[in-house]
Amino acid sequence: MRIVLGVGGGIAAYKVASLLRLFTEAGHHVTVIPTEASTRFVGTATWEALSGNPVSNSVFDDVHQVNHVRLGHEADLIVVAPATADLLAKAATGQAGDLLTNTLLMARGPVLFAPAMHTEMWQHAATRANVETLRSRGAAVLEPATGRLTGADSGPGRLPEPEVIYDAAMALVQGQSDFQLPLAGRIVTISAGGTREPLDPVRFLGNRSSGKQGVALAVAARNAGATVRLLAAHMDVPPPAGVEVVPVETALQLREAALAAAADSDVVIMSAAVADFRPTEISDTKIKKRDDHADPVITLVRNPDILRELVELRNLKGAGAGEKQQLIVGFAAETGDSQGDVLAYGEAKLHRKGCDLLVVNHVGTDKVFGQDHNSVVILARSGSGPQEATGTKTEVSAAIISRIGLELNSVSPRA
Ligand code: CTP
Repeated sequence: MRIVLGVGGGIAAYKVASLLRLFTEAGHHVTVIPTEASTRFVGTATWEALSGNPVSNSVFDDVHQVNHVRLGHEADLIVVAPATADLLAKAATGQAGDLLTNTLLMARGPVLFAPAMHTEMWQHAATRANVETLRSRGAAVLEPATGRLTGADSGPGRLPEPEVIYDAAMALVQGQSDFQLPLAGRIVTISAGGTREPLDPVRFLGNRSSGKQGVALAVAARNAGATVRLLAAHMDVPPPAGVEVVPVETALQLREAALAAAADSDVVIMSAAVADFRPTEISDTKIKKRDDHADPVITLVRNPDILRELVELRNLKGAGAGEKQQLIVGFAAETGDSQGDVLAYGEAKLHRKGCDLLVVNHVGTDKVFGQDHNSVVILARSGSGPQEATGTKTEVSAAIISRIGLELNSVSPRA
């Protein structure tokens, strides 16, 4: 496929290098057209090297080839990223001051804008009107991601992640012109890893959770267009790019972070392995071996059940007019025993916790924890049958996120 990649003059231009790589690695022929302003952020040499094609932003280069006509006509797809407020305005009003805007006017195929700008600029009535105009003419304009912006400010205005833009671009050429990423505009909070409950300054009670499943879920949610908050307890893997990370250690810290993050979240996924108990007392100093050889005794106290509390708060709050209730997803690590099998325990837990979906893992010391593969069953409170998902943690996460997308976007209200 022939792709024209227009690069606008914003700090996020550097992220477009990764998008270009995604296109070229998938075998597409990419011509990059940077605006003059964008070359202050990323130089043309970068685009030439990564695309393997010459780069120009002037209509007066290679005039004999009438580049803007050729590029506009030949392109199977035009992607503009970052689409600045200025570029959106120029495109909406049909200006033709440089090679990129000329090419946009000559476009015959689908056009995708991936905006990035400060929140105030994105929310300004002028930008809103320009976006509406472009959409009404059939162009796809992605919603920007929410998060930290160039300065100390944060809010909607971040360039969507390269994978998100890539997926949207591919969906657009496949004719899904009404294509919306399943979690576009949604805020998804995900807890991951295992909490650690300190005994003294050097020791803690922990668990085997590696955080891999939670991180894979965060990536899948991010790629589905969501703004992701990752509440990261202890993890063996680094958090992914493009998500907001809130580090926590103990169950009580996770509870505080979860309640705060849930307040405006559309979805909360509790994939963290939360310690059910914590030591009653935390010693300020290292607990020493005692001379009398007596065995030390550790007394434990129950931790709050965060998932249950989230469900109770959600039920109290209800849904706003015309809105869907927050969707809450729990995880269950079950081994099964002589009293019941894994699924029976899962069903009982789903009803006890009151969450909408429960992802049931079959665990054992050699299963799940720290492994790259997983096999889960998704149980739904709405009563629809159990759904199995097996594969790498990435594949399982994609299945869980796509199920969440279906639940959120279904027309009927949730039970
Ligand atoms: N969870 C929680 N707060 C806790 C314990 C667990 O929010 N104090 C959440 C987990 O993140 C997970 C779900 O509850 O989403 C199930 O956790 P699990 O430990 O498997 O279940 P328990 O409630 O501990 O039940 P049981 O001890 O009977 O297995």
